[in-house]
Amino acid sequence: MLRRHAGGPLHVAVVLGSGLSHAVTARLDGPQIGYSRLDGAPNLMLAGHPGSAHLGTWAERRIVAFAGRPHLYQGFSPRDVTYFVRLAAAAGAHTVVLTNAAGGIEPELTPGDLMLISDQINLTGASPLAGGPTPNPFVDMNGAYSPALREHARTAAAHFGITLKEGIYAGVRGPQFETPAEIRMLRRLGADAVGMSTVLETIAARTLGLDVLGISLIANKTGGHVSHEDVLSVSHDGSERLSQVLRAL
Ligand code: HPA
Repeated sequence: MLRRHAGGPLHVAVVLGSGLSHAVTARLDGPQIGYSRLDGAPNLMLAGHPGSAHLGTWAERRIVAFAGRPHLYQGFSPRDVTYFVRLAAAAGAHTVVLTNAAGGIEPELTPGDLMLISDQINLTGASPLAGGPTPNPFVDMNGAYSPALREHARTAAAHFGITLKEGIYAGVRGPQFETPAEIRMLRRLGADAVGMSTVLETIAARTLGLDVLGISLIANKTGGHVSHEDVLSVSHDGSERLSQVLRAL
């Protein structure tokens, strides 16, 4: 279905995090497909946002950008959460760019920063590979976030004078934000940023042989007060820089 609408096998899939959709989807000139038209897609309407796949071509690469993703905290299963990664792989994609809004734990990370994800800590207690028909359940997670793609991203960002920080993303289940004690724990565990998505998608992507690039937009500092509205307002501003980096890539 995606392959047909894209006019051939896909090259790259982008999953857009909270508030990060607009700048990327506005620059994709192909068809837009509502998730309700994708066979077996999780019903995001239940969570208030229908979600859609946006197709287009950048530098002769066929791209799909998914605006809206299912989360564990919405009651979706690990399999649902990784649906779009599996769909992209089936449509030929060899690279997936996973983006998210995250809380900064590392003191140098400030709201508005873009952070390349260098590695992850999966604290959701879940895996998309558990219990299902999985070709390669014992997937090697070393270098899960492609060092080569990170290098390309740094070069692309530098070209536009955009600073990319780099750090470790801890994925939690949510939806409540963390307590100060939990943030101290996460810091001791080695996390630089924390969010409620991405880690299961990366596991699914690696088992399917996709290269993964992960980018967090730091939406807030953690350990103090934070609201969902704060997260969304910073995201809107950061989506423009994210879109520039992706197009240059
Ligand atoms: N914690 C968890 N997830 C988040 C945060 C946070 O502070 N900000 C954006 N997503």
